[in-house]
Amino acid sequence: MTDKLIIFDTTLRDGEQSPGASMTREEKLRIARQLERMRVDVIEAGFAASSNGDFEAVRAIAGVIKDSTVCSLARANDRDIARAAEALKDAPRSRIHTFIATSELHMEKKLRMTREQVLEQATQAVRFARNLCGDIEFSPEDGYRSDMDFLARVVEAVIREGAGTINIPDTVGYGIPELYGEFIKTLRSKVPNSDKAIWSVHCHNDLGMAVANSLAGVKIGGARQIECTINGLGERAGNCSLEEVVMAVRTRRDYFGLDVGIDTTQIVPASRLVSQTTGFVVQPNKAVVGANAFAHASGIHQDGVLKARDTYEIMRAEDVGWAANKIVLGKLSGRNAFKQRLQELGIELDSETEVNAAFVRFKDLADRKAEIFDEDIIALVMDESVTA
Ligand code: KIV
Ligand code: ZN
Repeated sequence: MTDKLIIFDTTLRDGEQSPGASMTREEKLRIARQLERMRVDVIEAGFAASSNGDFEAVRAIAGVIKDSTVCSLARANDRDIARAAEALKDAPRSRIHTFIATSELHMEKKLRMTREQVLEQATQAVRFARNLCGDIEFSPEDGYRSDMDFLARVVEAVIREGAGTINIPDTVGYGIPELYGEFIKTLRSKVPNSDKAIWSVHCHNDLGMAVANSLAGVKIGGARQIECTINGLGERAGNCSLEEVVMAVRTRRDYFGLDVGIDTTQIVPASRLVSQTTGFVVQPNKAVVGANAFAHASGIHQDGVLKARDTYEIMRAEDVGWAANKIVLGKLSGRNAFKQRLQELGIELDSETEVNAAFVRFKDLADRKAEIFDEDIIALVMDESVTA
């Protein structure tokens, strides 16, 4: 089994399905370029058959992206697949991602199809797609809530037709990490030709477990591709967030033992770009990309970080694209952090007594003001030297 973890970004397809997040062709192009800069392996650029606008967006992205594989989603029918192939034709590396639902609920209530009909349609779709493109991914939609034995039959059949990637979506975010991981593992064991394909996970965040489920799919289930979005953008509560899974696998390489090819210094710029483009604000305490992700406010933590950063930091702010970590001066800050900021601001006080006096004034101000900015400190020191 390979020790490379493929990062498949679907910000421009599943992310865009987030209500209010629709993007123009130019906006999608800008994001696709940033994803390529970040060295994402696969960019799902859209769903070419869904609208002329999306077709044009996929085509434009296919025309400029050179280093990442460009992918289009397609339902399991000839028209969608042909449209995807047409949109992708200029891409040096392209993938068609075709899907059909396999859970009893979806087959009966949504598709109004029998198991045998779904099996037949999935098989035919992959056969048709394989004649148009060398790289085919198949997803059984609502796969995690599907009957395992039926799902195994479908997967075995599509691998036989040439699907190189098998993606098992937890479409409605119902999974629990251990259970989802075990599901993938057992399913693989039931598919005789399972080693002919790369297994992939695609988790939604309805119970807040998309990242944990994806990682369990990798660790327990043996998946080697994760589908994710920047800032966890996506339908309802969103998808697995790229920044979190990538940094989890990087930071805990000791546990996962896998390589990701991502240039992590491009993560924060990507997060900002997606946030500005969609208008979806990133919550301050969001892991990795939130404004507070590398900010230290408590005196004890500030003191620790000033002495050795790894006392309270498991990754470096600079490694994910922040300019630096942040010591937030406020009422919880200690003398050490205050002194350090004076030094950074080039303020030299004549004696320790003066530093102590300034620190008392700083604490006084901090009781009245949530965050103390550099201007406050300069004013605080200047005022005193004027009145002295
Ligand atoms: O969540 C889902 O099931 C999907 C598939 C189309 C892959 O997005
Ligand atoms: Zn999805």
